Amino acid sequence: MLRARKQDFISIVDAGKKIEALINNALKLKNEARSRSGHMKSRPFRGKQVAMIFEKHSTRTRVSFEVACDHLGCNAIFLGSGELQLGRGESIEDTGIVLSRYVDCIVYRAFEDAAVRRLAAAASVPVINALDDMEHPCQALADMMTIKEKFGKYRGLKMAYVGDGNNVCNSLMLACAMLGMNFTAACPHGYEPPQSISQLAASISMDTKCRMEIIEDPKLAVKGADAIYTDVWTSMGQEKEANEREKVFSAYQVNRELVSGAKPGAIVMHCLPAHRGQEITADVIDGQQSVVFEQAENRLHTEKAVLLWLLKGSTR
Ligand code: CP
Ligand code: NVA
Repeated sequence: MLRARKQDFISIVDAGKKIEALINNALKLKNEARSRSGHMKSRPFRGKQVAMIFEKHSTRTRVSFEVACDHLGCNAIFLGSGELQLGRGESIEDTGIVLSRYVDCIVYRAFEDAAVRRLAAAASVPVINALDDMEHPCQALADMMTIKEKFGKYRGLKMAYVGDGNNVCNSLMLACAMLGMNFTAACPHGYEPPQSISQLAASISMDTKCRMEIIEDPKLAVKGADAIYTDVWTSMGQEKEANEREKVFSAYQVNRELVSGAKPGAIVMHCLPAHRGQEITADVIDGQQSVVFEQAENRLHTEKAVLLWLLKGSTR
């Protein structure tokens, strides 16, 4: 019998036209979860297994996936990469093939995007990117769900991302392009998103008719913004550059003055973990306009929607 090619979620663009349906389903699941302490009545994935390989630290991604699995009735197996034979030189390909014989889905947080793609190419089960050096697609879904909750729409709104053109920025930019939300990033010279991402976002935005721009001036970026987003200046794996980055990004702090340049009532976003006093001040992240803990909660609901999308019909 011919089996449909399995679907991976490595880049946010892999969600394609389903992105809005995924977000709407997550909103529905959030509503339902409130009345049933999270569990789905049917436990649709009872007996299914999800392997979770993490090469880097995680609070939100790890816990939200583990809880999402419990709510859906399936089992999550956490695998710190150092404990796997992967950490002793077994190939990514052999790891993917072997795990596919046991589990129905692999969640992978990796240093390199190439590693996630190699695992996905070798595995016969869906692979979910739980953050790599290029993208953080699960985060972008939760972020765009938060926008939908706050504003009820994307069109005509402006997202201003201030800081490092990193994995979180890349997925957010692509997600905005896909959903028709205007996006401006303010990044220091040399720290912009890679051209492969900005060009892809620009081409998607031609269809969805929104504006994508990358500039250097944070004040200009936040002008007219409905949402201001920032992330750490030094991502996991870049620790050696931390001192240099602190200097480069010092003018990119999201503080009260910068926020006052956006639309009144603009929301402030951060994927967390945050460094108060560096990329964002404590008064802003802990203030009235901040939605960072809604974003964090929404990780749970969007992880569930992603698992429902990828595991439905899995027949391993
Ligand atoms: N935002 C996010 O992915 O957080 P963790 O690193 O804690 O998973
Ligand atoms: N850009 C950050 C995001 C952490 C969730 C990192 O990669 O460390």
